Amino acid sequence: MEQIILYEKNQYEKLDEWLSDKKTLVVCGSGYRYINKAKSVIDSHRSTVLFDNFKPNPVYESVLEGVDVFRKNKCDAVMAVGGGSAIDLAKCIRIFSTMQHDKNYLDQEIKKNDIPLLVIPTTAGTGSEATRYAVIYKDGEKQSITSEYCIPEIVLFDPDNLNSLPEYQRKATMMDAFAHSLESMWSINSTEESMEYASEALELIKTNIYGYMENTYEGNLYMLKASNLAGKAINISQTTAGHAMCYKITGLFGCAHGHAAMMCNRILFPWMIEHMEKCVDERGQEHLKNAFQKIGIVLGLHSAGEAVDYVERVYSELKLYIPNPNKDQLAVLCKSVNADRLKNNPIMLDTEDIKILYKKILGVNY
Ligand SMILES: [Fe+2]
Repeated sequence: MEQIILYEKNQYEKLDEWLSDKKTLVVCGSGYRYINKAKSVIDSHRSTVLFDNFKPNPVYESVLEGVDVFRKNKCDAVMAVGGGSAIDLAKCIRIFSTMQHDKNYLDQEIKKNDIPLLVIPTTAGTGSEATRYAVIYKDGEKQSITSEYCIPEIVLFDPDNLNSLPEYQRKATMMDAFAHSLESMWSINSTEESMEYASEALELIKTNIYGYMENTYEGNLYMLKASNLAGKAINISQTTAGHAMCYKITGLFGCAHGHAAMMCNRILFPWMIEHMEKCVDERGQEHLKNAFQKIGIVLGLHSAGEAVDYVERVYSELKLYIPNPNKDQLAVLCKSVNADRLKNNPIMLDTEDIKILYKKILGVNY
């Protein structure tokens, strides 16, 4: 089913209409109080129930609580207003709410249900509104829920919802969309369709990076679109080593997810170009070379090498810091990378490569 995106002038009338015949659980992040238009429409529907008792990178216990609130209030629809965490939580609540309550939801088969899901992203980056993935944490471990039934039917984009984004979050979420587009371009699962989405996203990011950082209406609008397109791209191709290697950096040093992903990709990109002989994409080295070249071209540059320089320049212009790990933390990072999660990467990375890469990413010599 094609996802409906509301971004025209009458989008809030449509939201009003959507809410009118439902009892909706609204999963809202910390930015909820700042998004005036959506908030006034939601608050005018007395039947809506707000759920905001969760932290970024939500844990399984928060999902359990959300499902409980949904059931106790006899809700029949779910809405998310927020960034990736609120959206992922809403996806899980929708899916889990019709599962057996006395068993671990993560062990149960995911089935389609009729609960409508509408999403209003308040960040431009995760693209979660476009993907079949939801990430939550259980006992400190990342859990990926993958199902077509995660994808919301309706998404409302309002560039003004990005107005109150703190600067660091603004940068880091954009870096997530940037990482998704790059990784999607070189993923071994890329298709013509995913490359189209990723190329369009890359172009939009490059064109709108400054407008978006200056919080212009246009900059925000196009970054929302870029993030959505990058989400559509990874929905097909999945992410690669940049994402596989970034999760523990976030866990250990508290860097935001997108920040950590681009910290890795700015080193992985040139590394892969230098190690083409380890290409594992069945379409061969020539295909991968073309994919790298295409990244340069859609960025308005001449070569993959120029694209590498561009990525490094953006990262440093945004003044995104690089943490300084001790030896023990470096060892933890190296052990954290699940080999299975690296399988979408076009260049094979063994344990030794991972170690060298983390040292380069974090600028340490031990
Ligand atoms: Fe991501």
